[in-house]
Amino acid sequence: MRVIAPAKINLHLEVLGLRQDGFHELAMVMQSIDLADSLELTSREDGLISLDCDDPTLSTDGDNLICRAASLLRNRSGGRELGVSIYLKKQIPIGAGLAGGSSDGAAALVALNSFWGLGFALQELEEMGSEIGSDLPFCIKGGTQFCFGRGEKLEPLPSNNNSLAIVLVKDPFVSVSTPWAYGQHKKKFGESYFQTEASFEKRRELLRDEFNWSAISDKGFPVIRNDLQRVVEPCTEAVKKSLEILASMPNSIVSAMSGSGPSCFAIFPDFNSAEKALNQSQNHLTSAGLKAWCCSFKPEGVKIIS
Ligand code: C5P
Repeated sequence: MRVIAPAKINLHLEVLGLRQDGFHELAMVMQSIDLADSLELTSREDGLISLDCDDPTLSTDGDNLICRAASLLRNRSGGRELGVSIYLKKQIPIGAGLAGGSSDGAAALVALNSFWGLGFALQELEEMGSEIGSDLPFCIKGGTQFCFGRGEKLEPLPSNNNSLAIVLVKDPFVSVSTPWAYGQHKKKFGESYFQTEASFEKRRELLRDEFNWSAISDKGFPVIRNDLQRVVEPCTEAVKKSLEILASMPNSIVSAMSGSGPSCFAIFPDFNSAEKALNQSQNHLTSAGLKAWCCSFKPEGVKIIS
């Protein structure tokens, strides 16, 4: 069985406050893109779960979200001796703010549910996913979604934005720790966090209005807000450089950092203009040591393809 695990970008990431569980209360808009990892599953009779990867720098031990997803699913199915060999082909850069690890975990849940014939509903898989990481439910469903709560509460946006494309850039030698980025945000801005559910809901309402796609075609694309960019950009040269180059690209609508970074992207009206802008800036990007991709918006999340 082969399953595709797409990356995501953040079209909005707003830290609303601090939750009882120590996580941050978020209001986000996440978007799947067609940069994707793939997982190949083959059966094994000895009841073991094994993972190999074409990227030797990635841990394939029990801490990998694919292994955690497989173990959780097997436990929930009554602890039967279900085995699998998984081979992961990595395309999504690691530690990049693109939810690569979460999407791999999400793909493992969806694929193994079918591979082992467990019959869990999608909603149940999303709930299991949220126990492993805040972004897993989004990665299962994908497309364009509001993500509230820790990031696990989804509300779909009608997707009439499928012609949009991005240029995505990342320094291959730089990664950012997500807990560090949230920790820095709390340190710098924690005192001004909203305190009540009513104030959280007010911000969610404003975001629902702002990302009403039919209004967007009249008003133009919203300026992208990423609160983590406010703490990551000042101390990460690669982010500053990426944003500078992206902003200079012809026909770009808007640019921002994704998630906790360091990857950054610019949005273009269509794939051709993104490709053209990337080609024109390739020398500049290469001399800045940045790797770049041209990607389309994708209307879905993880998908079993064979
Ligand atoms: O849920 P996930 O494992 O992706 O979160 C990684 C880390 O990011 C958490 O341990 C936490 O430090 C931070 N985080 C947070 N609030 C969220 C999501 C993540 O503080 N809503």
